[in-house]
Amino acid sequence: MVGRGSVSEIVQDGFTVAIDGPAAAGKGTISRAVAAHFGFAHLDTGLLYRAVGRQVLAGIDPVVAAQALSPSDLADPGSLRSAAIAEAASKVAVIPAVRAALVDFQRAFARRTGGAVLDGRDIGTVICPDAEVKLFVTASPEVRAERRLKELRAGGFDTDYDTVLADVRARDARDGGRAAAPMAAADDAVLLDTSAMAVDEAVAAAIRVVATRR
Ligand code: CDP
Repeated sequence: MVGRGSVSEIVQDGFTVAIDGPAAAGKGTISRAVAAHFGFAHLDTGLLYRAVGRQVLAGIDPVVAAQALSPSDLADPGSLRSAAIAEAASKVAVIPAVRAALVDFQRAFARRTGGAVLDGRDIGTVICPDAEVKLFVTASPEVRAERRLKELRAGGFDTDYDTVLADVRARDARDGGRAAAPMAAADDAVLLDTSAMAVDEAVAAAIRVVATRR
């Protein structure tokens, strides 16, 4: 049938790389590098939840905030990187209606012409279960806390290792334990443990995985 054929042609036009994993495992760095290497667009889906979290800290209802989210809310990503906003994001992310409000935007981005990399917690499992490539990037909580501490200090946030490690563990528990789209590796995801890897090695490993499927 003509109609059915043209729909599947449009759907096959995209190439989606789904990169999931816990806080500060290296998803962001790897995703940006993979996108730059292959000329794909990149969406850090955590920013969507962080933007909703920021609105909630300002007293707005989470579902209302998620439904009204617009690209301008993501315009200054640096301002969304605080530990307080990360925690607020992980709290709003347990609410099914918040997640539902963000699905269409993410799926449309994933299938855009020219390829897309999305990083988050549920991209390979819920948002893009048909992604051409799925990676699950992990590292030990201690290594992740070290990395996040450096990032936060570089961003001008004053904190210490023990606080950051406690935040990382609390977020792992909340993100992995929630009922709605819990953080999980898809059955067909390639696992990448970056605990003992330099950034360049982790990026090269991810690029190799994508290159084999293109
Ligand atoms: O940068 P980091 O890995 O610390 O966090 P993020 O990716 O910015 O995500 C912040 C929070 O948003 C996470 O702790 C999750 O609770 C939530 N999130 C989610 O539930 N689903 C996603 N696809 C992305 C983020």
